[in-house]
Amino acid sequence: MTMKDILTSASPVIPVITPDSVDQALSLSLALYDGGLKNQEIALRSSCALDAIRAIKEQLPEDLIMGAGTVLTPFQLQLAEQAGADFLVSPGSTDSILEAARDCSAPFLPGVSNPTQAIAAFTAGFNCLKFFPAEASGGTEMLKALAGPLPEISFCPTGGINSENYQAYLLLPSVPCVAGTWLAPDELVQNADWNGISQLCKALLSLKSLPA
Ligand code: 3PG
Repeated sequence: MTMKDILTSASPVIPVITPDSVDQALSLSLALYDGGLKNQEIALRSSCALDAIRAIKEQLPEDLIMGAGTVLTPFQLQLAEQAGADFLVSPGSTDSILEAARDCSAPFLPGVSNPTQAIAAFTAGFNCLKFFPAEASGGTEMLKALAGPLPEISFCPTGGINSENYQAYLLLPSVPCVAGTWLAPDELVQNADWNGISQLCKALLSLKSLPA
């Protein structure tokens, strides 16, 4: 599976989760999956993140695609791949991570926030990029401007995306999907309201204006 397949093959929203424990990650990931979000990302921001990815890949349905996010170094790329991550995401695109990602078998989504970084990542062989932090970097206007000179790049905007603004991003031809933490609100997660989270996802996916 290429990064483009992952961005286009399932629902156009990738929930980003930062679990406190492996058990919580399993419940949350299953709730999101039951809500229709089969492509998900666990950010490597807590000590349980790699174990959570491993447990999800072992125990949850096979068609749940689980990525590892907040990958900052070549070593983390390696650890995430070993844990079984289906794709790898970085908020940035340093030379070292672009270089190391070429040796990974899992597809990589490097982060960029301006044209120079986008050209560097594209030149290094990546045509799907994370646009991060999306809202703080110019949002939909910036993406419209980038589409002119960089028509071959697909962007996954992340950072500041929420229920109010995600549809505006999805209307852009260069945006097959968006990502963000808003589908796993802290309050619902802390109350273990897994059904509430599934309902939130279903409500989002049932919106008529959501592009297919
Ligand atoms: C990420 O790591 O992808 C972002 O921090 C998510 O940003 P958000 O919390 O604004 O959705």
